[in-house]
Amino acid sequence: MSNISDDIKEVLLDEKTIRQKVREIGKKVSRDYDGKDLMLVGILKGSVPFMADLLREITIPCTMDFMAVSSYGSSTESSGVVRILKDLDYEIENKYVLIVEDIIDSGTTLSYLIDYLKGRKAKSIEIASLLNKAVRRKVNVKAKYIGFEVPDYFLVGYGLDYAEKYRNFPYIGILKEEVYK
Ligand code: IMP
Ligand code: MG
Repeated sequence: MSNISDDIKEVLLDEKTIRQKVREIGKKVSRDYDGKDLMLVGILKGSVPFMADLLREITIPCTMDFMAVSSYGSSTESSGVVRILKDLDYEIENKYVLIVEDIIDSGTTLSYLIDYLKGRKAKSIEIASLLNKAVRRKVNVKAKYIGFEVPDYFLVGYGLDYAEKYRNFPYIGILKEEVYK
């Protein structure tokens, strides 16, 4: 049987480490948004595992919605041009929006999204990103919740893909360079 984990150089964050961190973030979100009309907005498709796990660690009432965006460019570098493929299904007026994302890299996607949603009269728009690759930042974005600071390697698993593969790993690993070079 073929095994996609053969393409992984090293596991960076294992299942247990991720689970504990997501639990921590869930607790903080539940505390910070208590009494507020919280709406989680997941960015498809990378955020799906994080969203599904975070959602179940949140103990206050909340709703969820999804957006899909694409940024043109080669598969390991984003180009800086963002396109909305799927907008929100619901209005965000008077809601406390928390954007749920897998990773902040250059910051282009999230800074574009925040600008895009700005006119819709949300009470607040904040970001929860599982991973942050701070060294790669080109555009300034501030996330309220960050799971892990990660080094500048191309990572896959737990939602993160290369050419749409590897999203199904329960852990986050460093992709072998020979896979994409
Ligand atoms: P940004 O717009 O440059 O911040 O890019 C954010 C998007 O690029 C993320 O939502 C991911 O889809 C993708 N991305 C950035 N770094 C990685 C990585 O190491 N592995 C997989 N996808 C990544
Ligand atoms: Mg993504």
